[in-house]
Amino acid sequence: MAYNNNSFKRFRVLSVLALLYLSFYTKTGEARRPFACDPNNKLTKSFKFCGTSVPISERVTDLIGRLTLQEKFCCIESYEWWSEALHGVSNVGPGTKFGGDFPGATSFPQVITTAASFNDSLWELIGQVVSDEARAMYNGGAAGLTYWSPNVNILRDPRWGRGQETPVKIPSWPVSMLLAMSGDSKVMQQETSSRLQHVANITLPTILITGMVLIASTSMPSFGECTFMTLVSIKVQSLLYNFRICVSKQDLEETYNVPFKGCVLEGKVASVMCSYNQVNGKPTCADPDILKNTIRGEWGLNGYIVSDCDSVSVLYDNQHYTRTPEEAAADSINAGLDLDCGQFLAVHTEEAVKRGLVTESNVNNALANTIAVQMRLGMFDGEPSTQPFGNLGYKDVCTPAHQQLALEAAHQGIVLLKNHGGILPLSNTRHKTVAVIGPNADVNVTMIGNYAGIACGYTTPLQGIGRYSRTIHQQGCADVACNDNEQFEAAEAASKQADATVLIMGLDQSIEAESRDRTGLLLPGYQQELVFRVARASRGPTVLVLMSGGPVDVSFAKKDPRIGAILWVGYPGQAGGAAIADVLFGTTNPGGKLPMTWYPESYLAKAPMTNMNMRADPARGYPGRTYRFYRGPVVFPFGHGLTFTTFDVKLVEAPARVSLPVSSAVNSTVLSSANALKLDHTNCNSVSLGLHITVKNNGTMDGAHTVLVYSTPPAGKWSAAKKLVGFKKVHVPAGTDQRIMVGLQVCQHLSVVDQFGVRRIPLGQHQLQIGEDLNHSVSFHADLRGPIKSL
Ligand SMILES: *[C@@H]1O[C@H](CO)[C@@H](O)[C@H](O)[C@H]1NC(C)=O
Ligand SMILES: *[C@@H]1O[C@H](CO)[C@@H](O)[C@H](O)[C@H]1NC(C)=O
Ligand SMILES: *[C@@H]1O[C@H](CO)[C@@H](O)[C@H](O)[C@H]1NC(C)=O
Ligand SMILES: *[C@@H]1O[C@H](CO)[C@@H](O)[C@H](O)[C@H]1NC(C)=O
Ligand SMILES: *[C@@H]1O[C@H](CO)[C@@H](O)[C@H](O)[C@H]1NC(C)=O
Ligand SMILES: *[C@@H]1O[C@H](CO)[C@@H](O)[C@H](O)[C@H]1NC(C)=O
Repeated sequence: MAYNNNSFKRFRVLSVLALLYLSFYTKTGEARRPFACDPNNKLTKSFKFCGTSVPISERVTDLIGRLTLQEKFCCIESYEWWSEALHGVSNVGPGTKFGGDFPGATSFPQVITTAASFNDSLWELIGQVVSDEARAMYNGGAAGLTYWSPNVNILRDPRWGRGQETPVKIPSWPVSMLLAMSGDSKVMQQETSSRLQHVANITLPTILITGMVLIASTSMPSFGECTFMTLVSIKVQSLLYNFRICVSKQDLEETYNVPFKGCVLEGKVASVMCSYNQVNGKPTCADPDILKNTIRGEWGLNGYIVSDCDSVSVLYDNQHYTRTPEEAAADSINAGLDLDCGQFLAVHTEEAVKRGLVTESNVNNALANTIAVQMRLGMFDGEPSTQPFGNLGYKDVCTPAHQQLALEAAHQGIVLLKNHGGILPLSNTRHKTVAVIGPNADVNVTMIGNYAGIACGYTTPLQGIGRYSRTIHQQGCADVACNDNEQFEAAEAASKQADATVLIMGLDQSIEAESRDRTGLLLPGYQQELVFRVARASRGPTVLVLMSGGPVDVSFAKKDPRIGAILWVGYPGQAGGAAIADVLFGTTNPGGKLPMTWYPESYLAKAPMTNMNMRADPARGYPGRTYRFYRGPVVFPFGHGLTFTTFDVKLVEAPARVSLPVSSAVNSTVLSSANALKLDHTNCNSVSLGLHITVKNNGTMDGAHTVLVYSTPPAGKWSAAKKLVGFKKVHVPAGTDQRIMVGLQVCQHLSVVDQFGVRRIPLGQHQLQIGEDLNHSVSFHADLRGPIKSL
């Protein structure tokens, strides 16, 4: 392309607007001024792109066509794209600032804790609160409107420092939260569940939020032709940046891509983030197959693709993927990258255009994708206060209702791992004095984990327990690293005096965090010895409470009869201490379930962090990953979680046979030799099956139960491992029963992926396992009588 000075000038201006990250803040607490189009300004009023009734695509084209005029205001007020809202409005990104009228925001439990609730509607409620608070802060000039969350990478390795951020393997959760956050309630309204409709009425969804999804894993080092990078303790950043992973087509389609696809297709995210690492030989931010063909093409992203911060410079500087920085800029824009978190594109794209490495039209496309999102958010519609939700302000942040939801979420995320002889709940008449011991006993910010903000306020575990009984507090260790045992005697003495002992142990961000993976799964330092000694000294029952994102190998405590009960509380958020106390004293009946396998320490030696394979490889001693493929010993299995009552689950009604309509492309000759149908040979999208189940609470305390449904396909050239295909949580008062229905979509839930990455529906007997001990078999048949003419 012939370089023309004028087009370059326009591009430079736009690059400031959209490709660079620059911040502009009004003083915190001051109302935000219009971003661009001011209806009171005669000049901007006349612009087509300021016309709120003009379709967005026309407004975008108009704006791009006028860019020289745009210079004036675009450069004075640039927009900071990067804000975070993983489990509450966060100030991790530069786009959000607390202070003034906005001293804090509601800080919900860390994502993995909410995952343990197995409660679909909870995600929506949290999403609505976060979006209301975000819009209120935007109106007050304290935050942006584009949030780079959630993180939907799968929790592949128990050492991963960012495992705490992930909703693990349930793609519907980030989708629910995204829909609630973006205000796209259409899907919610289609739900027949009255609970969801009720939810949709409580709070009007407010902002269009951008979802951030990191393609593939972000941590690991490189070896061999297509692998490498180490997740284990990435102290050397260059290792992280160099990580090249090798993923099979089968694992990509079956596991890694699933949550990303769900967020784009169903969650309607407004953005996707590409990562630092390479996948199968290409940096994700310069791979047109991933960005252009899959995300924008096949999945239909309506929004922008943004790099992880400085990942374009990383592909040149660290990975030496291109010879020149201009090629790196061009490769990424040509691959479909629209926005750079960093300055690399702003610095090098000009020269790349000059050299003809990238066309102006590709640059315009990138700009159009970002500006369209700003327009959808109302940033070109004048005064924020005159727009929908413009009335939200500081009084809508940290409201009593929002903080109550943070407490409920913490209640629901707590998992009772052990309750030997029913020592829990404690009683405030029998346990008048409680020794509260451990480095996490009186913590506040530890409870909100990473990608958090400033909470409205905290209730620490010590304060929470203090609401029920007199407490004697001993830290036991100076911090979670617990490097010595100097304070152990004082801790033992405390437990000798008390009627019950609660040890609050575990991890914090100094042990597991972004760029900080663990090297082991045991409790750090001398923590295990502290627990052991205090449990021996304790006069009353001893309870171990674990705060952590990832699993901890506490086999010693599981076996030890002196440690009567174990609770895993994740990082339970601002109200975590109150929730822990409510569970300890039985005001709340725990109903959470582990959202991931708790592996023993011995697992680590056999599963290198760098091995991306999901499936076990017994010949090489590789144990495989997750509850699906790992068959070895566990500390606690996926789905484990006890309660203070008992539930009796019965299958009432379920189909024994399912017919799949087949396309005319398939004839009886082909069928007789096939034991599985390709998805595009059947319209199984229209086929679903319902399992009708009763859940009876035959104990003495009201409680909630989650019924998990797994399926095992008939044998074939795919994995016969069982997988979670559905679940339903139900609240059941003591002595009553509730009927529930778990609906399964045949295409989505009961298909398998062969070694070529092709999804198929196996014909024959599928085994469904309902809860712990109910089995039901359904046979799948191809229905040739009514072949579909065209699909
Ligand atoms: C929710 O809104 C719908 C539509 O306006 C209405 O029919 C329904 O009764 C409302 N539900 C509740 C629980 O308020
Ligand atoms: C959190 O705990 C630390 C250490 O005890 C204390 O200094 C700080 O004031 C607490 N912050 C809040 C908001 O309670
Ligand atoms: C309640 O149901 C469970 C599960 O079927 C069963 O083991 C238990 O004996 C029942 N308890 C009572 C009191 O009926
Ligand atoms: C059935 O389909 C196969 C593959 O498309 C084709 O080779 C074969 O001739 C067809 N047989 C009949 C009976 O139509
Ligand atoms: C899910 O969470 C919401 C909000 O806390 C709560 O009202 C509802 O009862 C929960 N559902 C179940 C089945 O526990
Ligand atoms: C249910 O099926 C699974 C998998 O086929 C099997 O391991 C289990 O023993 C069965 N349980 C019962 C109660 O039949």
